[in-house]
Amino acid sequence: MTIDVGVIGVGMIGQDHIRRLTHVLSGVRVAAVTDVDLDRARTVAADLPDSPTVHDSGEDLIADPRVDAVVVTSWGPTHEGYVLAAIAAGKQVFCEKPLATTEEACSRIVDAEVATGRRLVSVGFMRRYDDQYRAMKAVVTGGEIGSALVMHAAHRNPSVPDFFTSDMIINDSTVHDIDVARWMFDDEIAAVTVLKPRVSSKARDGFHDPLLVLLEMASGVIVDVEASVNAGFGYDIRGEVVCEDGTVELSEAAGAIVKGAGRFGGRVPTDWRERFVRAFDAELQAWIDAVAAGGTTGPSAWDGYAATVACETGLRALASGVREPVTMRERPDLYKES
Ligand SMILES: NC(=O)c1ccc[n+]([C@@H]2O[C@H](COP(=O)([O-])OP(=O)(O)OC[C@H]3O[C@@H](n4cnc5c(N)ncnc54)[C@H](O)[C@@H]3O)[C@@H](O)[C@H]2O)c1
Repeated sequence: MTIDVGVIGVGMIGQDHIRRLTHVLSGVRVAAVTDVDLDRARTVAADLPDSPTVHDSGEDLIADPRVDAVVVTSWGPTHEGYVLAAIAAGKQVFCEKPLATTEEACSRIVDAEVATGRRLVSVGFMRRYDDQYRAMKAVVTGGEIGSALVMHAAHRNPSVPDFFTSDMIINDSTVHDIDVARWMFDDEIAAVTVLKPRVSSKARDGFHDPLLVLLEMASGVIVDVEASVNAGFGYDIRGEVVCEDGTVELSEAAGAIVKGAGRFGGRVPTDWRERFVRAFDAELQAWIDAVAAGGTTGPSAWDGYAATVACETGLRALASGVREPVTMRERPDLYKES
């Protein structure tokens, strides 16, 4: 069975997902594309083997009866409308993070999905599919080194474009660590504090980089995330969980360790595409397989909601300089297992 997918938004990650849907994954075909920049959509479509339909709008693409399922890779503020339209059409939708940019918008999506009585939404938190994070979670949940106490994490980007802001360090970078924390410990975030270390000389005026984001889980586990976006040397993702009887940490990214002249070392990934390429492949293949089986898989609309609420709390903590409690709606029964 081949799932015909329509892709809304063919920018950086949209094109990367189209590449994997077309050339890497199985059981799927890109049948339709669109973008607010229609010339870009036509250019992308022209390079694809199955001559996908170029729709004038995301709404037209979702309504196309030949589109079985929808991938949303447009700008964050446009996600809500497309995800709601896909739910209304009864189509499975994979939405890149964020699910939506405000708690209210995420809540509307949760309400719409709950009203259908079945899961239709999957959110693109690909770290859950990364081999290293999965190995770490297996140790933490297996209990072999005792109960978790603390997690240290670092999210270092080599550089960011000029439009990047301190808020985006939380909304665009730390959001992945927020999702990892919830998933790693099967727990919700109870409070967020944001500390502002000495500012990097590479940060623009008025830009606080790095940030130290402290996530307090409901269980009492504390996750500290050092988020830097001018690290220069590469894309460096780190994680270590400290448990009562031992620790577990992410190993270095795949590749060879070279020893010579009294030193050893390896390659630092250039960017998130290189570091998480296999996680993105696994994430979308799992989603395609689930859609083919008549359902969905992966992070739910609830996970998208919880991540956005934690990010909004983080922005409040960044502005206030103090610990900010996280307040969430009650989790609907539909998501009790997610
Ligand atoms: N999971 C990850 O690690 C990851 C990595 C990168 C980006 N993302 C997410 O993917 C999304 C896209 O990011 P990007 O880096 O590809 O951005 P981008 O700017 O490169 O591409 C976005 C595309 O969406 C199009 N677009 C904007 N508004 C639209 C609308 N209303 N309808 C249709 N198309 C529209 C733009 O013209 C552009 O082509 C963002 O939500 C981002 O946070 C996730």
